[in-house]
Amino acid sequence: MTRFTVNDRPIHYRMDPDTPLLWALRDASNLTGTKYGCGTGDCGACTVDIDGEAVRSCRISIAECEGRFVTTIEALSTDRSHPVQQAWVAENLPQCGYCQPGMIMAASVLLRKNRSPSDEQIDAAITNICRCGTYPRIRAAIRRAAKIMAGDETISSAPPSGITPADAARSVPALREP
Ligand code: FES
Ligand code: FES
Repeated sequence: MTRFTVNDRPIHYRMDPDTPLLWALRDASNLTGTKYGCGTGDCGACTVDIDGEAVRSCRISIAECEGRFVTTIEALSTDRSHPVQQAWVAENLPQCGYCQPGMIMAASVLLRKNRSPSDEQIDAAITNICRCGTYPRIRAAIRRAAKIMAGDETISSAPPSGITPADAARSVPALREP
């Protein structure tokens, strides 16, 4: 029996306590925004926020999450209003997109701790791997998100064609009880 909070909801997982958090989120809770890349803690595709820290969910068991607060990409916002999401869209950042949920979660944690990170600080904090090589745009987007958070920039870009915020909100999977 393992109890903790996922996206502001108390969850009780009836799974082996050694189950990596990644698989509890994806398989039991249907929170598939958190991606599996390597399973060895190297790529960062599985990054979630646990108690305000960027954590690789493939390397932490649900037992280790007992009593903690987990936030996944699905709960960052449902309408793309988070400054990091706004900046990501404005920079037209993703290519294949696979690494991006982990990147966004790592960036949101960084900006909560450091409202104006330098490129060196960004590189030190975001150790996630992007096989498409979006690193320059990630740095630019984080700098832009910092400006949005500081009130120095307002983004009023339309959603990409074919996708509306309502569509995006509908696409957020419901948290499924395990
Ligand atoms: S899947 Fe967790 S770090 Fe790669
Ligand atoms: S956008 Fe393709 S792996 Fe990063």
